[in-house]
Amino acid sequence: MLRRQFEGQQVIVVANREPCVHETTADGIAVRRPISGLVTALDPVLRATGGTWIAHGSGTADRAVVDRFDRVRVDSEDGTYTLRRVWLTRGEERGYYHGFSNTGLWPLCHLAFESPRFTRSDWRHYQAVNARFADAVVAEAQSSRPVVFVHDYHFALLPSLVRERLPDAIVVAFWHIPWPSVSRFARFSCGNALVEGLLGSDIVGFQTPEHAGHFLDCAATIGEIPIDRANGTVGRPHGVVMVRDYPISVECPSRWARTAPSIDECRRSVRASLGIEPDAPLLIAVDRMDYTKGIEERLSAIRRLLARGNATVGRPVFVQVAAPSRTRLEKYRLLGERVRAQVEAINSRFGSGEYQPVRLIERHVEPSEIFRLFRAADACHVNSLDDGMNLVAKEFVVARDDERGALLLSQFAGAARELSGAIMINPFDIDLVADGIADALTLAEDEQERRMRMMRGHLADYDVYRWAGDLLDDAAKVRRPPQKYSPDSMAAASGSW
Ligand code: G6P
Repeated sequence: MLRRQFEGQQVIVVANREPCVHETTADGIAVRRPISGLVTALDPVLRATGGTWIAHGSGTADRAVVDRFDRVRVDSEDGTYTLRRVWLTRGEERGYYHGFSNTGLWPLCHLAFESPRFTRSDWRHYQAVNARFADAVVAEAQSSRPVVFVHDYHFALLPSLVRERLPDAIVVAFWHIPWPSVSRFARFSCGNALVEGLLGSDIVGFQTPEHAGHFLDCAATIGEIPIDRANGTVGRPHGVVMVRDYPISVECPSRWARTAPSIDECRRSVRASLGIEPDAPLLIAVDRMDYTKGIEERLSAIRRLLARGNATVGRPVFVQVAAPSRTRLEKYRLLGERVRAQVEAINSRFGSGEYQPVRLIERHVEPSEIFRLFRAADACHVNSLDDGMNLVAKEFVVARDDERGALLLSQFAGAARELSGAIMINPFDIDLVADGIADALTLAEDEQERRMRMMRGHLADYDVYRWAGDLLDDAAKVRRPPQKYSPDSMAAASGSW
């Protein structure tokens, strides 16, 4: 459907993180796929539509492989597209990415009790980098009316900047992380600029109706902006902007399923490579090393469970993949230190001989390897303190074509709205999390099957192509002669949606 829909139509995606990073290694140039829900979701979509992905060129060998227009092809058997890299100076990267985006907006939007910090200099860098990416969009546009698909909190100003330069473009913005309530959003004193920046789009999409509602509340504080809450539309000089939820998803079936070994083989080889007993109960967690993911809370719960000496769980092994993330920020480095200390303390208190209850894998892990870990596990644990969606939960379900395994899921991840077959937990209640881990590792087989079937059925219906299809289909409805805002046009547009 996407292929057909976008035949002859140029799709330009803008997202800070690139789908593949080229790194210099001792053996030459290696390609790495970043651990990022955004990349997991967008890469298959762009392979289907073709087009251009504009991203920050962050790899050590990225410059070595681009052509003179800073472009490189991303090829696979399912389709190809162009990656256009934008280079940032160290100062820009510090101010826009580490500073404003990840020290300001990230803690502002996630309720994980870290204070956001905003500085004027970071804000200026953020404005300047958004303008640099707008230049790249204009340079890549082959007509006056491309579809420009803008992603995430790194580019809140971009939709309006693109609108000024390409007034007829179809601009869709998708915000992957939570949008805070009005009172929390007020902690950033130039917040209106972000809201107005996003409202340069035709569609502003969020993961949940709650986040979309918070955004409309923030838009309402600006004043003089006509808002139709019932239909989720906002009137702007360029036309009517639709604001609603489009919960993101994953490929189902996954492309990794084509080459993955059988479940039995995964169970055997993963346990053998980790040096654990062939029948050891295995719980897997896959996160970026980030304080919003509830890694410390998970380790506290594991400690509590082991201290209870719960015989029904046997000698469980907990594998925590923690991909290094944003390591230039002290908060992230300190988190890594605390997590390592916690793991050591648990292993020295509860380990014996060969048995080490917690395995911390603190490195980049390729998606195919993660897929094998999912297939080898008895349960997967997502413990986010606050999360827009969390695609690890969905990927685990997709990986289990044997309809076995239990998903333990934080009630504060967007995925909890859809994956009702999960065992839900409150990550702030350590005893309940410990109970949940024990329940997940001892869930009866028929109950595993019942829950997995339900969740797999949902994801088969609502996969990432459906997500992109819904968003871009709505965008196609605004593919009309450019219209100005008037009360009539607003009513007509919301009616057609
Ligand atoms: C979150 C964001 C994504 C981002 C990912 C990884 O999921 O919503 O936009 O790709 O974190 O973070 P990073 O800072 O490595 O891009």
